[in-house]
Amino acid sequence: MSIEGEKKYLIRGRRKLSSGTTLYCITSLYLAALFYIAISSLQKRQIAEISIIKTPFRRQVDISDEEFLTFNTENPNKQWCPEATCNNSPICEPCKQRFLFLFSTGRSGSTSLLSTLNLLPNVRLSGENNNAFVHQFYMQQRLSQAQDYFEDEVEVNSSSWIHNPIPRQSMACPVQQTLSTINPPSRSFLRRDYLTRKDVEKHEQSTIIGAKMIRVQNGNWTWQEAVQFYKRHFPCARYIINIREVEGSFQSMRKRGWFKNLSDDQLRKRIAKENKFLTSFANAMGDNRAKLILMDKWSKDVGVLNDAINWMGYQDCSLDSILHENKNGYSKEGEDEQNPLKGQCLLHTRMHIDLEVNVKNIR
Ligand SMILES: *[C@@H]1O[C@H](CO)[C@@H](O)[C@H](O)[C@H]1NC(C)=O
Ligand SMILES: *[C@@H]1O[C@H](CO)[C@@H](O)[C@H](O)[C@H]1NC(C)=O
Ligand SMILES: *[C@@H]1O[C@H](CO)[C@@H](O)[C@H](O)[C@H]1NC(C)=O
Repeated sequence: MSIEGEKKYLIRGRRKLSSGTTLYCITSLYLAALFYIAISSLQKRQIAEISIIKTPFRRQVDISDEEFLTFNTENPNKQWCPEATCNNSPICEPCKQRFLFLFSTGRSGSTSLLSTLNLLPNVRLSGENNNAFVHQFYMQQRLSQAQDYFEDEVEVNSSSWIHNPIPRQSMACPVQQTLSTINPPSRSFLRRDYLTRKDVEKHEQSTIIGAKMIRVQNGNWTWQEAVQFYKRHFPCARYIINIREVEGSFQSMRKRGWFKNLSDDQLRKRIAKENKFLTSFANAMGDNRAKLILMDKWSKDVGVLNDAINWMGYQDCSLDSILHENKNGYSKEGEDEQNPLKGQCLLHTRMHIDLEVNVKNIR
């Protein structure tokens, strides 16, 4: 139909409306509007329920204050991260997502630990990421080398570096987003019919996400810098730090042919240095954030891992045995093993939804 013809058709069509049809149309429109209002108020109520911080952006200080202070510092996940520093702003709520990291040295059973932790409901840990996050530390270094122009809350109005003040701690969100992007929910979950962005947010907030990493200690940073970086960018995180005595690690690495370029002495020193980094990291993080475990102990006594599970806050939850790494190297583990996790494994959290969404069922 040509444009002309279409126009005519429309005009003619409109003229032909009888009063009966008009009434019909108006009634349907009215009903549709009512329906829309009902639905959107329902949705609003749902969103209000899951909204973590009810007044996230209200300033705590008088607006006339000279200094541009943080918006507020409410922590929505006090159970998981009681000591977190949370500078909330309209562009980032750094404590909204709970994280769990498994930092370890190599050849220390970290893959078994990864599989074990992934048995826990609502936990989703990914494997190695080649210490990608140290590059976000390097990025921060580059920014702060630029004459402190990128310090939090600093307004820069010289024209070549111009930018508005950056809300305190807001870099946490893109850093966290990197992790949640390389460790997303399962494809079957993401492909559910009618899934919305809100549903995904809700799901993620009921999940503890994280990664196993055996290279954190090998970045070009000190343990002090690593502590500062992780406290700031993953404020609501817990860390399980796993190390192994030098001699056992050494033998295992030699057997695997790792670090052929290092002499025995060099390799032992390297392992000791990695252990020192991770131990210092754990000590500086403190008992509420970090749990240091020794492979030499937990491989013989499952109680050590049960302590860690309790420390995470899981109730009625324990392992009756250790998951073993497959003897044939990196092939799939635990295929023939029974699930060693017993109990309901409830995790107390502030959001009611947590116990209803079980990631394991979605996978
Ligand atoms: C630039 O910033 C300084 C303080 O950093 C302020 O005193 C000055 O008024 C600003 N200039 C403009 C044009 O905004
Ligand atoms: C490591 O970092 C220091 C300063 O932080 C820098 O001077 C040095 O060049 C870096 N080394 C490498 C290999 O990147
Ligand atoms: C030995 O090789 C590893 C990679 O396998 C490398 O990271 C390390 O820097 C090398 N060390 C020396 C002393 O060449």
